[in-house]
Amino acid sequence: MIDRKAIEASLYFRHACKRFDPARKLPQEDLHFILEAGRLAPSSFGMEPWRFLVVRDDALKARLRPYCWDQPQITECSDLIIILGRIADPLDPDYYGRMFRRRGLDEARTSAYIQRYENYVSALHSVPGWVSRQCYIAADHMMLTAAQIGIDSCPIEGFEPRKVDKELGLDRKKERSVLLLPLGYRVQEPGPKLRRPFDEVVSFL
Ligand SMILES: Cc1cc2nc3c(=O)[nH]c(=O)nc-3n(C[C@H](O)[C@H](O)[C@H](O)COP(=O)(O)O)c2cc1C
Repeated sequence: MIDRKAIEASLYFRHACKRFDPARKLPQEDLHFILEAGRLAPSSFGMEPWRFLVVRDDALKARLRPYCWDQPQITECSDLIIILGRIADPLDPDYYGRMFRRRGLDEARTSAYIQRYENYVSALHSVPGWVSRQCYIAADHMMLTAAQIGIDSCPIEGFEPRKVDKELGLDRKKERSVLLLPLGYRVQEPGPKLRRPFDEVVSFL
């Protein structure tokens, strides 16, 4: 187990980094470690409805920046992770069948699971909304892991998904950008953590 002080330190270390040092690049093994944390994130029914694109090319970052509210993190970061949500039909049996059968359960339990999944997904108000919620969990896995190894990040929702997706050549019927996650190294220390008090946020019943 990691000691509490170390966990607490990384929770305070993580902040939405506004300016990255463009001269500092992440070691490949650190980038891989962070992406692996995203891959291991939990997801509804274990469907992993995501893909992670890593933009390292400066020219592509520069083309994306105007579609991201011109935020400097897009071009100053070392690596720009784009979390894509899988929008393609979640009721495609080839897709969910593969995900359920890998569990190695017997046929009866697999069928029961699939039935519950189909009922749940059919009743969803919004598939993109459901997918996005899970992409955010993967993002947080990556941000916290990055912080634990001294790497900065910034979750970015301030962008125009249609324009970004067009630039990336995505088929928006299949997948869409949900959240951008630049990684790198801060140029200045963040201000104090601004949070509502514990007792305002937490209630014990
Ligand atoms: C879903 C989401 C979207 C965000 N989008 C942006 C963004 O586009 N640009 C930005 O600079 N910060 C963005 N932030 C960062 C928040 O403003 C920041 O997390 C919050 O103010 C708390 O500050 P801290 O993360 O530094 O503790 C986003 C955060 C989240 C969770």
